[in-house]
Amino acid sequence: MSNLIEFNDVWKTYKMGEEEVNALAGLDLTLKEGSFTAVMGPSGSGKSTFLHIAGILDMPTEGTFRIKGKDTSRLSSKEQAHLRRNEIGFVFQRFNLMPQLTALENVMLPMIDEDLEKAKKLMDRMGLAGKYNKRPGQLSGGEQQRVVISRALINDPSIVLADEPTGELDSKNADAIMQILQDLNKKDGVTIVVVTHNRESAEFADAIIEMKDGKIIS
Ligand SMILES: Nc1ncnc2c1ncn2[C@@H]1O[C@H](COP(=O)(O)OP(=O)(O)OP(=O)(O)O)[C@@H](O)[C@H]1O
Ligand SMILES: [Mg+2]
Repeated sequence: MSNLIEFNDVWKTYKMGEEEVNALAGLDLTLKEGSFTAVMGPSGSGKSTFLHIAGILDMPTEGTFRIKGKDTSRLSSKEQAHLRRNEIGFVFQRFNLMPQLTALENVMLPMIDEDLEKAKKLMDRMGLAGKYNKRPGQLSGGEQQRVVISRALINDPSIVLADEPTGELDSKNADAIMQILQDLNKKDGVTIVVVTHNRESAEFADAIIEMKDGKIIS
């Protein structure tokens, strides 16, 4: 399988007044198409920063990040947006559901080619049949998370990036979410990167990466 994403000596430095924080400090990592990777590590070790760069939501301060062989820092903002929309599905807290929209409307929000039947089919597959017209506030935490995953998949991304998708769920719902991600990986060949604090969730992946101080330690 070919390389889908490549981090080459990536540094991400935040300036806070006089102080500098190296959220990433020389990260090297290559992920192949069709891989399923869990990322673990203590709070502040750079896991979310890593996912933001992988999702082209942020740029390295130094080093190169490539997706499908393209150095993202050399792309125009339009090309970056195109990649984000067409290739990447996000399961991030910062992309929360819109409370005033129904579950179905939330799923269809980023849809490029509007297709009601496709959206419903996807929700059915996620175990959300009959929940189309509920608003997020009327759904359980596990159901909301499955709406978020449906929305992430609506444009058939080649990669799904998930930041603690099971963080607020009990272990039964957490396992159900991880099972969905595993199915997507095994049956549809979607490349998956999931950040988690939960060892049990991480075990669903084929490889576990441990981060510390902005680097991969194993
Ligand atoms: N926008 C920002 N401005 C300044 N510092 C930041 C910013 N984002 C992250 N940091 C710092 O970079 C480091 C890595 O943060 P990051 O959010 O990537 O950690 P994390 O591994 O995701 O932690 P957690 O498990 O708590 O979510 C931390 O020291 C954090 O305070
Ligand atoms: Mg984080």
